[in-house]
Amino acid sequence: MKKVFVHKISDYVNQEVTLKGWVYNSRSSGKIGFLTFRDGFGLLQCIVAKNDVGEEKFDLFKKLTQESSITINGKVVENERAPGGYEVIVSDIETLHLSKDYPITPKEHGTDFLMNNRHLWLRSKKQHAILKVRHQIIKAIRDFFDSNDFTLVDSPIFTPNAAEGTSTLFATEYFGKMAYLAQTGQLYGEASAMAFGRHYNFGPCFRAEKSKTRRHLTEFWMVEPEIAFCEIEEDIKWAEDLLAYVISHVLENCKEHLVILERDIEQLEKIKTPFPRLSYTECIEMLKADGFEINWGDDFGSPEETHIAGKFDSPVVVHRFPSKIKAFYMKRDPENDDVVLGMDILAPEGYGEIVGGSERETNIDVLLERIDEEGLNKEDYEWFLDLRRFGSVPHSGFGMGLERVVAWLCGLTHIRETVPFARTMSRITP
Ligand code: 4AD
Ligand code: MG
Repeated sequence: MKKVFVHKISDYVNQEVTLKGWVYNSRSSGKIGFLTFRDGFGLLQCIVAKNDVGEEKFDLFKKLTQESSITINGKVVENERAPGGYEVIVSDIETLHLSKDYPITPKEHGTDFLMNNRHLWLRSKKQHAILKVRHQIIKAIRDFFDSNDFTLVDSPIFTPNAAEGTSTLFATEYFGKMAYLAQTGQLYGEASAMAFGRHYNFGPCFRAEKSKTRRHLTEFWMVEPEIAFCEIEEDIKWAEDLLAYVISHVLENCKEHLVILERDIEQLEKIKTPFPRLSYTECIEMLKADGFEINWGDDFGSPEETHIAGKFDSPVVVHRFPSKIKAFYMKRDPENDDVVLGMDILAPEGYGEIVGGSERETNIDVLLERIDEEGLNKEDYEWFLDLRRFGSVPHSGFGMGLERVVAWLCGLTHIRETVPFARTMSRITP
């Protein structure tokens, strides 16, 4: 008999098939049993009738527990009332392993309990749907860059450089020296952009975030394009096009998962490029007018971001931040020395910053001054400064936080469910 998988079940209508997987749920009444079967590819309703399988197998079915592993044989039939439109009439059933006291039952559990059982929670319908969407978002990101002639070049995880400030570094001893886990791949990305023209880097980043928020992980994934001969306007355009591409890919390929997650798809369908734009200074004026106690020079927290983004249906681009609150490598605005040519993209519906980027400073003296101001060790940045010594060109890039985008597109309230095994200030297991 042909071994098949749940997501392809419609190809086998009226055929006898074999399925291998797990018991998601089961119940019986009298001589008939209902089994929700799970194989990693989807869920399928199966009908187990005593008359079809015989007394012995029907007793075996009745003893099946949640998450027991099984093999079933049966006939695929169309049934418009079955979830997905198909079901299997079981003719035989075998147990591979009887699962005992599976901890995650259909009743409600607390988040901490579920996070402690994350290795099992991944099997649940919603968690499965989230990670399927995550996979499609990763695919869309790679497709977007690959089809626009960007070369993927990996940056190292161990680094002596603190590109995003010294307060969130994870430090480790490195054969008698100090190394940090990369907060970003950007500085290496700038080297790659000079070698490949258009480059992207896609990998894990590490930040010792000391705050417990619904937007921060200590280990997260960032995609970071870096583009030679590119100024801030073009940089913003790349970020908008990337986001538009990712959203349309998800709407096209993840509808069934978004339905499971009860995502209001209309909110995503409304999104159009170009996104609205506001300078930091305009944002401060708007926040003040709306009653926020904030002064020019202050960084936005999540209430400010939510308020700004809440004015629009699409993500919003905020640009030209005070240089004091931004990273050392951002280029000063030639028209106003107090601000840098940096941009953040804030997602709607309260999801906050999903993209951060900038045009890069090319003036080596300004860079040296900023490296000094940040208290960084100049020797560790010599290689980076070489990029300004040998054929320096205007260039820009940005970083998009994968988990923030997954949270937003899936409509989740907390970032911890966007990643298979979340790492936060209070969690490193499982
Ligand atoms: O704005 P950030 O800090 O920018 C950079 O790291 C630049 N070097 C990127 C570049 O220009 N190549 O981070 C970029 C994005 C944020 O907008 C956010 O989406 C995500 O990375 N991010 C986090 N996501 C989850 N948990 C955290 N602790 C995050 N910190 C940043
Ligand atoms: Mg940022």
